[in-house]
Amino acid sequence: MIELQGICKSFPGVKSLDQVNFSARAGEIHALLGENGAGKSTLIKVLAGAYTPDSGMITFASVPRVWASPRQAQQAGIHVIYQELVLFPDLSVAENIFIGHAPRTRWGLIDRKAMIRKTESALAQLGHRLDPRARVGDLSVADQQMVEIAKALNHDVKLLVLDEPTAVISGKEVVALFERLRRLRDRGVCIIYISHRLEEIFALADRITILKDGKNVRAGSVKEFDRASLVTAMVGRPLADLYPPRPPALPAAPVVLAVCDLQALPRVKRVDLEVRAGEILGLAGMVGSGRTEVAHAIFGSQPRQKGSVTLAGQDVPPASPAESIRRGIGFMTEDRKGEGLLAQLPVYANMTAPDLARYTRLGFLQRPREVALATRDIQRFRIAVPGPTSGVWHLSGGNQQKILLSRWMAIRPKLLILDEPTRGVDVGAKAEIYRLIRALAAEGVAVLMISSELPEIIGLCDRVLVMKEGRVMGALAAETLSEEAIMTLATADAPARGEAA
Ligand SMILES: Nc1ncnc2c1ncn2[C@@H]1O[C@H](COP(=O)(O)OP(=O)(O)OP(=O)(O)O)[C@@H](O)[C@H]1O
Ligand SMILES: [Mg+2]
Repeated sequence: MIELQGICKSFPGVKSLDQVNFSARAGEIHALLGENGAGKSTLIKVLAGAYTPDSGMITFASVPRVWASPRQAQQAGIHVIYQELVLFPDLSVAENIFIGHAPRTRWGLIDRKAMIRKTESALAQLGHRLDPRARVGDLSVADQQMVEIAKALNHDVKLLVLDEPTAVISGKEVVALFERLRRLRDRGVCIIYISHRLEEIFALADRITILKDGKNVRAGSVKEFDRASLVTAMVGRPLADLYPPRPPALPAAPVVLAVCDLQALPRVKRVDLEVRAGEILGLAGMVGSGRTEVAHAIFGSQPRQKGSVTLAGQDVPPASPAESIRRGIGFMTEDRKGEGLLAQLPVYANMTAPDLARYTRLGFLQRPREVALATRDIQRFRIAVPGPTSGVWHLSGGNQQKILLSRWMAIRPKLLILDEPTRGVDVGAKAEIYRLIRALAAEGVAVLMISSELPEIIGLCDRVLVMKEGRVMGALAAETLSEEAIMTLATADAPARGEAA
């Protein structure tokens, strides 16, 4: 279906793709794998006409092609679902699917009835139920993703590419997405799938291509690989343990964060929780269960309606993130584009942003000290970037995430809140990040970690609270953690009595 030969693509200071070959067939799900910055997204952009390669050949449906624009590739049947969805929130599902080519009546007017009917049938092909008249901005992310896929079907898609689609959905929604993708594959669509979650690759993919540093490493049937050989091929060396060992519980450690009867609009109903020094407390639950709002209400970046928050026995004032940082709360948000990265500033300034006082003497910023910190963390986190003074905007998704984590670790917090800390991060760097979080806890920092990735909640946390609809449904100690136990609470009808911590 698609064949790329000898593709090269360079940007100033980086050779993102170096003589890359890639081929995928009709009727298969092909996983494209590699560490952060390996060149996966760049390859997709070349294949879909968003970037012009410096050299190399593209053959699509047996015809050599030189895409003049993404639109041309789309008309030929290539549809890419990028991680940031590009739907119009104020338009309906049907309008989004038909934007630019709505069916017309004899009089040249938009034929709304036909549009709704065709939308219903596109969604039915996917086995997905959704009101074509619903406003897209009101839908869950999972439903929005289905709208994107329905839109692709509407374009008579032959090749569908998904770049980290499960970064924003969880549990049941992932299962549903996979089922729909298999259905499309069985109808002869070629699917290219990018993900850093290795369980997904084994569950879904037929064949695999692995890139490293912009070059081909291996390709073959998924059956030729097991977890260890896949990781070794991606990282370039074997990786022993993904999760650091858990230290023995220290019940006597002082409470660092105490949250009592917290209420915050729109979703947080009543939350009590405590995190002790040295403890990693996980906050699990479905997307939309209120986990992120709890974090914002603690940090002060969202107002509280009711309840108290104390840090080491002192009240944390509401609605003042700057004050929260001053008192020792670090908060790495899930929204790295919106709230996280400072796009105009170089890497080092992004790392030192919340704590400039530390790098200031007599009112002057000491740039060499900032650069020194950045140089250390670039190595420590293996961030694929030319140097501390490079820009951050064009960095691969996972590398942006690593820069944010470095930023919050650098403030030496008493409490570190992490919202989806390893979203989009490759497996080698995940292991490194888990080790760093555990090391921070071992120094006495209290860690509150939100994650939709159950294996990491189970592998890393000392205790887990499970939320649903703005309430804590129950608490699980490390020994009792399992995906099943978490999912049971996440979908339970009423909070488990006496267990909520
Ligand atoms: N427009 C651009 N300008 C400059 N550099 C770029 C640009 N696009 C990509 N790069 C660089 O090319 C390399 C490959 O990036 P790419 O986004 O393809 O990685 P990736 O494999 O998708 O990584 P991730 O898993 O983190 O998403 C990176 O070093 C990145 O910084
Ligand atoms: Mg990418």
